[in-house]
Amino acid sequence: MNPVYEKLQRCDQAVKDRLPFTPRVALVLGSGLGDFAGRFQMEASIPYEEIPGFPVSTVPGHQGRFLFAYVDGVPTVMMQGRVHYYEGYDMTDVVLPIRLMKLMGAEILFLTNAAGGLRPEFAGGALMMITDHIASFVPSPLRGENLEELGTRFPDMSQVYDRELQELLRRTAGESGVPLAEGVYLQFGGPAYETPHEVKMARLLGADAVGMSTACEAMAANHMGMRVCGISCITNLGCGMTDRPLNHEEVQQTADRVSGRFAKLVTAAIGQMGE
Ligand code: HPA
Repeated sequence: MNPVYEKLQRCDQAVKDRLPFTPRVALVLGSGLGDFAGRFQMEASIPYEEIPGFPVSTVPGHQGRFLFAYVDGVPTVMMQGRVHYYEGYDMTDVVLPIRLMKLMGAEILFLTNAAGGLRPEFAGGALMMITDHIASFVPSPLRGENLEELGTRFPDMSQVYDRELQELLRRTAGESGVPLAEGVYLQFGGPAYETPHEVKMARLLGADAVGMSTACEAMAANHMGMRVCGISCITNLGCGMTDRPLNHEEVQQTADRVSGRFAKLVTAAIGQMGE
């Protein structure tokens, strides 16, 4: 058997008897939603280190576990702590958790992250719904022998972010009174923030936000036929767009400041995602 698929199967075997329900939504908690899970009664939790072969996050402040809770009545599996490519993992390991949540039964993937904004009006704290992405600067998670069990060799990427889910997010944001911008997310490899000219390049390419995650996850999910949506918390303007250097603390502080409104929107949106 293909080693990537074999590892996924092993992880699936390790978790499947521990699920309190079949999740409908898989939610990846990025910076800005770190305490999101604390708002709900947990039905179960599976620390990543208890899953054999599972990649464990090395970023300070990123906890690593799956959490299971009803979010506004909708059975949801949350990833508290994602795995980033810059930590040194293969792309197939980076997206393994996404694939695993699909095997758990989740049909919808809700991605969140912190990102640098490329439009001046996105100054600190805006929320941006992802309408499309540029993943050309990181290796494809689909590279290597195709896993036929998961999806096709040459998957279409014309609609990675589900149109109906985008409409649901727009509507929910309006109803919740949470301003929601829209734009294209570009994934760089990190871990360094961009140079001013890399930011200029990203803007020329049509990106509205830059970050170090998410697009590869969306790609793997699309390959498996999941419906995907995503929201970026714009924690800062891209390097060179202001005269101040970037740092992780500032990113975290802005993310924390926005977390109340972010959580409100995500909760209300998931509430609308039941069957
Ligand atoms: N660049 C890349 N990743 C980020 C940024 C940024 O400016 N802000 C938060 N995550």
